Amino acid sequence: EVPSIEEKYEDSFEIGAAVEPEHLEDPIRAEILKKHYSSVVAENVMKPINIQPEEGEFNFEEADQIVEFAKENDMDLRFHTLVWHSQVPDWFFQDENGDPMVDEEDPEKREENKQLLLDRIENHIETVVERYKDDVDAWDVVNETIDPNASNERGLRESPWYQITGDEYIKKAFETTRRVAGEDAKLFINDYNTEVEPKRTHLYNLVEGLLEDGVSIDGVGHQAHIQIGWPTIEETRKSLQMFADLGLDNQITELDVSIYGWPPSGEYNTYEEIPEEVLEAQADKYDELFRLYEEMDTSISNVTFWGIADNHTWLDDRASEYSDDGIGKDAPFVFSDRYTTKPAYWAIMDDNEGA
Ligand code: G3I
Repeated sequence: EVPSIEEKYEDSFEIGAAVEPEHLEDPIRAEILKKHYSSVVAENVMKPINIQPEEGEFNFEEADQIVEFAKENDMDLRFHTLVWHSQVPDWFFQDENGDPMVDEEDPEKREENKQLLLDRIENHIETVVERYKDDVDAWDVVNETIDPNASNERGLRESPWYQITGDEYIKKAFETTRRVAGEDAKLFINDYNTEVEPKRTHLYNLVEGLLEDGVSIDGVGHQAHIQIGWPTIEETRKSLQMFADLGLDNQITELDVSIYGWPPSGEYNTYEEIPEEVLEAQADKYDELFRLYEEMDTSISNVTFWGIADNHTWLDDRASEYSDDGIGKDAPFVFSDRYTTKPAYWAIMDDNEGA
């Protein structure tokens, strides 16, 4: 019997994990989840493509399974995500004739369709938030709104959301969530690479501007899809501190520490092939990270991993995509592919390990 991660950190922040509904029916995985974690988030089933695949046709079945599990086990629930440019069904951006709202030949079309799109997102949010407002502890209201490669100065991602509404979709999303969920709800803006420039400053400026405009935001979600060698702990500290100084809460929302660099070589095809020294180096990264989180625990309320054990991670798809042989195995968590404790587990549990 190894000690529980959530118990170790209970005075500091919640410890969460991303799950798929079928994971909750897998006895080993569910046991680990209940023992070591105090918060859950849906890896996919609360995204718009799952919740409202066709206009007006809401599908709550899978999302409900996760909500029920959180309730039964007295766990916090993060909602991911109300608005995103990915995993959003095409109908959102089609006009009443089913034609795309964005037409390069006809720039006025966007303006004509702006209200329709804003109405659609308002309706989506009203329906979802009304259903889950008593169960959700933190809402990822908008996800990944910054794109450092964007051609606009503010670094706003030039998704259809932006092309059709500018930044109005962001304001509409926060205002609607607040109106329906109430004053006590915790509303987050979520993004990746928040540790580093130029994203860090773009995000900071966006949030600061929204707050100045009276938009009610409680915190920043830092996805933290990181690597053993990147980013540095100083950059991570700086980013968390910047948003804390703005009076905001921080949550680490999708933590995983890839064993590869960028692009991922995908050189290991199975978990067994991964050398011990790689897992030790990963443990050192986890060690410094959790020391930082504890040091800053008054500005961090939740640390969520984007999975539980190394047998299920989106990073395998990414490692495979870049690998020469088309197969790549990653191992980003603190539990192995067979649910055993890794050096990374001991690094975050034992204060003397890995330093
Ligand atoms: O559900 C279908 C299934 O019916 C089909 O047979 C199968 C074939 O490919 O695909 C299944 O959908 C996949 C889905 O995950 C559920 O497993 C999609 O193809 C796949 O693209 C999707 O990937 C998810 C990805 O978001 C989508 O962009 C990953 O699981 C999920 O971990 C990932 O999570 C994101 C966060 O939401 C936001 N931050 C980045 C993070 C990692 O990309």
